[in-house]
Amino acid sequence: MTSETKSSWPNNVGIHAIEIYVPQRYVDQTELETFDEVSAGKYTIGLGQAKMGFCTDREDINSLCLTVVQNLMERHKIGYDQIGRLEVGTETILDKSKSVKTVLMQLFEQSGNSDIEGVDTTNACYGGTAALFNSVSWLESSAWDGRYAIVVAGDIAVYATGAARPTGGAGAVAILLGADAPLILERGLRASHSAHVYDFYKPDLESEYPRVDGKLSIQCYLSALDKCYQAFAKKALRINSERITLESFDGVVFHSPYCKLVQKSLARLLLNDVIILSSDELSKRYPDLLSLKETKLENSYFDRDLETKLLANSKQLFESKTKASLVAANQVGNMYTASVYGGLVSYLISRQEQELRGNRICMFSYGSGLQASMFSFRVSGTSDKLSALLNGLSGVSERLNSRVKVDPSDFAKTMMVREETHHKAPYVPVGSIDDMLNGTYYLESVDDMHRRQYCRKVSK
Ligand code: ACO
Repeated sequence: MTSETKSSWPNNVGIHAIEIYVPQRYVDQTELETFDEVSAGKYTIGLGQAKMGFCTDREDINSLCLTVVQNLMERHKIGYDQIGRLEVGTETILDKSKSVKTVLMQLFEQSGNSDIEGVDTTNACYGGTAALFNSVSWLESSAWDGRYAIVVAGDIAVYATGAARPTGGAGAVAILLGADAPLILERGLRASHSAHVYDFYKPDLESEYPRVDGKLSIQCYLSALDKCYQAFAKKALRINSERITLESFDGVVFHSPYCKLVQKSLARLLLNDVIILSSDELSKRYPDLLSLKETKLENSYFDRDLETKLLANSKQLFESKTKASLVAANQVGNMYTASVYGGLVSYLISRQEQELRGNRICMFSYGSGLQASMFSFRVSGTSDKLSALLNGLSGVSERLNSRVKVDPSDFAKTMMVREETHHKAPYVPVGSIDDMLNGTYYLESVDDMHRRQYCRKVSK
């Protein structure tokens, strides 16, 4: 890494490497529809979900993060002494005091490197983005000492039985950040929206399950999207004299609670464009949408006719800019903080290196409660480090396809075990480790002082 003078910002701060880990077991959403006795198509077509990854009692947030960080370091041959900051974004809380970051410090012991800033950040699905922004700030600050930062976003998304259960999932993403990166965070272009709402929250500290007002959460998500997009466009105009529309981006990646909401969100951005495009431009590009020009955004969240029109007119935009980013979301489900970064991984693996070069990717991160941000990456047109980043992701599709399907009744039993043993101490997990991939960390035991011991599965 190049050393920078203290008086200037390092250039091209962004992502050098990215790693995703998802549990090895999943339940098929078609089978879950039958098991839950809902109408065929509700989860697969209505929500747009194919498979839902889940963890047995052998995995918790610590083990997911241990696995993803160790895999990142090994795959990219990064020494633990090269890291100066480590932050975790998660809403899967096992301990009200001790951070997941400190658990991850076990991985650093052998290197002797304990001079590492950062702890955990929590706000529903947004903590990973807060961690990303914090780490980028460190890289651009007087405290930066030339080393990399790692951001980990991970969660186990589980819901009580009922309407929300099929929108669960689990996984973790680790991101290596530094200067002179091949995936560059656009400086100065960042817009947020924050408000006080009870759309999804976890007041019961004894339970893994959230309280959720499904309809309100959708409205909050869409309204935060409108607000972030408008603020992002305003900043782009001020900073770069640039008018933002969907045409400004090659890829648009969203936090994905379920894939159908993402498709509707892309359509929603088109509605925002319709409002700012001139009537002449609209007549040429979207004549069907001229009548929507005067739409009041705040009255339109559940307007079925408007939604149908927008979905039809944004179909091609969705296919070209967003659909590819939904592979992990469709195959694993909501990974909460990791969801939007799983979207980035999915987008990156969908294109050849040459196709990706120069791409501009818009990211929308949403966390209930609520906190949301829109920001963007540019894929370097020239960096020789892009190949290494992409090579690191070459096994993702294969790993997704190697997972083991579990019967919905066994999935339900596993959820019961998690419910009954959550926070239990002492406890020895009962889940099998046979299906786990080599290199996966798992919970070995919890002692009577609630101290957790982990092992790493190694080849037989
Ligand atoms: N075939 C095709 N589509 C169907 C079928 C069928 N047989 N049955 C229902 N559908 C459609 C519905 O029409 C509906 O479509 P729409 O969204 O276009 O209206 C969709 O499937 C979902 O059906 P609903 O009856 O609306 O579902 P329900 O209210 O039971 O639950 C919800 C959906 C609210 C998303 C629930 O799963 C939930 O609460 N999830 C967690 C909250 C969430 O993810 N919120 C999003 C942002 S916050 C976050 O990230 C956690």
